[in-house]
Amino acid sequence: MATIISIASGKGGVGKSVIAANLALLLAKKGKRVTLADLDIGGADIHILFGLMNPPLTLTDFLNRRVERLEDIAQALPVHSGLTLIPGTGDTLATANMPYAKKKRLIRHLKNLQSDVVIVDIGAGTSYHALDFFLMADHHVAVATPDPTSVLDLYRFIKLAAIRRVLVSFLARGAMADALSDRDFCSVEEVLEVAGQTDEASRVVAETALRTFHPMLILNRLSGRAHVNVAALKKLLTEYIGGDLTLLGEIPDDPAMERAVRGYLPVVDREPAAPAAVALAAIADALLTRMACPAS
Ligand SMILES: Nc1ncnc2c1ncn2[C@@H]1O[C@H](COP(=O)(O)OP(=O)(O)OP(=O)(O)O)[C@@H](O)[C@H]1O
Ligand SMILES: [Mg+2]
Repeated sequence: MATIISIASGKGGVGKSVIAANLALLLAKKGKRVTLADLDIGGADIHILFGLMNPPLTLTDFLNRRVERLEDIAQALPVHSGLTLIPGTGDTLATANMPYAKKKRLIRHLKNLQSDVVIVDIGAGTSYHALDFFLMADHHVAVATPDPTSVLDLYRFIKLAAIRRVLVSFLARGAMADALSDRDFCSVEEVLEVAGQTDEASRVVAETALRTFHPMLILNRLSGRAHVNVAALKKLLTEYIGGDLTLLGEIPDDPAMERAVRGYLPVVDREPAAPAAVALAAIADALLTRMACPAS
């Protein structure tokens, strides 16, 4: 069974796709069999980072059942024999209204691929698509830049992901699911309160869902002037969300990243000594360490 790592962000354009592409290649270079899956519904573009302009088959073909097996759309990438790509889908009606069960089916197929690791690039924002794909992974990585709007969007994203995680933990519990559906929750506390009113066991389920939520953070595009007070952010998240956030690593703002995008190759391959590439290598190591720890 493959380990799934999801990469998401509250704000768009913060570097998710380049980070996903580089981490996938780094893990492949370390001997893992890696699949990079583009689940950015509507904004799929990872194939372009590898110079593949028009993939012959995409996720749309799988979702519309034109092909039965996910392997049939997976594409070998010349950059490394251990790396394959599942090109993403355009926004079609079939994908826009994908129900929860269909998303689960897709994740199940990803888990059953002949890979050690599947890195999933997820569209920006807090749509149900983004939150569900983010949460269905084994390890969750959020990306933000020091831009204040990105930090605010990160906070919102983690908060809504935590709420969604708690709500999803009730999907199997009929009465609770009824009590919670069709309600718009603004805070984790509010969900816990409603859960607690129903029965004590429900509150325990909710609290466990929160306690076991350990998203990791990558800060991208840091420069001398632009930094993030990670300690303050962690405190805010613990206080209002009850979850924890681990800083996986920081990547400097580096023109080598843009050169690599224009050259259709990940920076870790094209300019491995560039500051951003060195930072990405450290993040890949940190991720491997994290993957080796049993989930708590
Ligand atoms: N550390 C960095 N230094 C310099 N430029 C960077 C860095 N990280 C990302 N970029 C630039 O930012 C651009 C956007 O990155 P990317 O497409 O990966 O963002 P994204 O979060 O996937 O966007 P979207 O939300 O639209 O999917 C890239 O083309 C790249 O040139
Ligand atoms: Mg992207």
